[in-house]
Amino acid sequence: MSVKGLMFCFSCSEKDTLDLDEKLYTHFGLAHTRWATHGEPSAVNSHPHRSDKNNEFVVIHNGIITNYKELKKYLITKGYEFESETDTEVIPKLTKYVYDNRENDSITFSKLVERVIQQLEGAFALVFKSRHFPGEAVSTRRGSPLLIGVRSEHELLTEHIPVQYNSAHFKEVVQEKNSHNRPNCSSSEGDGKAVEYYFASDASAIIEHTNKVLYLEDNDIAVVRGGELSIHRVNRQAGEDPVRAVQTLQMELQQIMKGNFDAFMQKEIFEQPESVVNTMRGRICFDTNTVVLGGLKDHLKEIKRCRRLIMIACGTSFHAAVATRQILEELTELPVMVELASDFLDRNTPVFRDDVCFFISQSGETADTLMALHYCKEHSALTVGVTNTVGSSICRETDCGVHINAGPEIGVASTKAYTSQFVALIMFGLMMSEDRLSLQNRRLEIINSLKVLPEMIKKVLTLDEKIKTIAEELYQQRSLLVMGRGYNYATCLEGALKIKEITYMHSEGILAGELKHGPLALIDKDMPVIMIIMRDACYIKCQNALQQVTARSGRPIILCSQDDTEITKNAYQTIELPQTVDCLQGILTVIPLQLLSFHLAVLRGYDVDCPRNLAKSVTVE
Ligand code: F6R
Repeated sequence: MSVKGLMFCFSCSEKDTLDLDEKLYTHFGLAHTRWATHGEPSAVNSHPHRSDKNNEFVVIHNGIITNYKELKKYLITKGYEFESETDTEVIPKLTKYVYDNRENDSITFSKLVERVIQQLEGAFALVFKSRHFPGEAVSTRRGSPLLIGVRSEHELLTEHIPVQYNSAHFKEVVQEKNSHNRPNCSSSEGDGKAVEYYFASDASAIIEHTNKVLYLEDNDIAVVRGGELSIHRVNRQAGEDPVRAVQTLQMELQQIMKGNFDAFMQKEIFEQPESVVNTMRGRICFDTNTVVLGGLKDHLKEIKRCRRLIMIACGTSFHAAVATRQILEELTELPVMVELASDFLDRNTPVFRDDVCFFISQSGETADTLMALHYCKEHSALTVGVTNTVGSSICRETDCGVHINAGPEIGVASTKAYTSQFVALIMFGLMMSEDRLSLQNRRLEIINSLKVLPEMIKKVLTLDEKIKTIAEELYQQRSLLVMGRGYNYATCLEGALKIKEITYMHSEGILAGELKHGPLALIDKDMPVIMIIMRDACYIKCQNALQQVTARSGRPIILCSQDDTEITKNAYQTIELPQTVDCLQGILTVIPLQLLSFHLAVLRGYDVDCPRNLAKSVTVE
């Protein structure tokens, strides 16, 4: 599900439709780019969806309504005609049905929405607009992210204000500060002091307008009426906290601009020398060789006593867990399981109260990972979030966690988040091993390598031109295999994922130790193969794999350590990389593959930042 598109701005106009050539004076906008889950991407399946030809109710929806078939069937028996193949369309139609059959003429828009969502199953973030309730918009969520940006011309929102306040307090503060100018929606006339509200499922959609946001919780109903925001809960339980904190986002607009780069992905690849520094900033003290992750320190004792660590994630974030598993086992002396969230749930994996479960997610909103988090909470495990998105669901729902601080990642293909997750997980290992005498030399080696990591990444990035030349040779191929083992196996998986998702070439990450158990059959002179052979504990074994490949006329392109003449003589091409400590080498080996996938995609003529069929944040199962 795309999260960048669900966005609207509300201020005061009653007018919410327009002809194509009509000049736009409206103060209300409603739009949503959606990853097609039901029906093909087409005009008729696009949002907003409507109740009827008169647009009595219009709705945008991020998520999936799982009982839409039953609802649709019922509404058809009541005479409703459906225009699209989407699950969403049942929502405006159901809203009209409930409205037309209301018992009480004075039903409010928010009450109506409350009744409608009681009938919905699945995940949703919704925004409603209606001709019956002019000057009003209602929004709600269950299971899908939703935030409200608030922009005001008043001083209020740029000052230090209480962290938590409910809508009543919100109004009070605004009114107090602007007693002669009560905030309303008249942005273009009247007192000229507008308050604007932006509903979005991701902060990057609204950051150009405001950095003040509040995050809605499941079953919150937010209403903007007459320029004022109020929030209430469906079935409010006693003791529930009625306040929602307004937070100031640290994100800057320029962080989500492309700058001099052709694509966000390319910019994000080149940002890695800085993004890894931001992950380490204020956490590693290179003078004392200590690491403190503020979000974990209060739980450290409990984590040290645990039965095992379970790392749960999807896609690239899962690869960050694979990449760091070995060093975490070494530094924590605990068993570490790495789990794909969907599979972890499918297996009903046993989880115990003395397990510590990590949820690694760039967006912090991935539905599978979030559901695995709920599952682990039900089993009373300690939950730890590792996310890049402050305020995201995973960040809010875990017991403790680490923000990787990589900065906004816009390109659908994750790059800098991966290397920052990698660094954050290693820092966790270092923090866990601080009092282990036997591990001090190892820790020192890693900390010293982290210190020079940004410089090493810069060196790898200078290989861009060379990698582009290799891409020019490869871009018309159908397949590309990536082989390695040990600490670099995760790079094979991640490199292959990057290649397939943005170039649409078939690509497979192969564990070199498995070569003879099947994949060797793929090798011949025509099959492009990338091998990762760094000077580490697997070096000799990787050389054996290389011989097996060359003996079958394979012509491997090899990522190897600088000046490794032994390897270069058997390679068709080499990409020579600076050598670092074994457990960090994966950061340096993945970058050439990020660059390669980028150049391949450009040469093949594809939109690097928006690969077909994929979304940045997968908020559906
Ligand atoms: C690949 C990619 C995806 C995500 C996956 C998990 O480049 O971006 O595989 O890694 O969808 O997303 P997060 O990390 O947001 O949970």
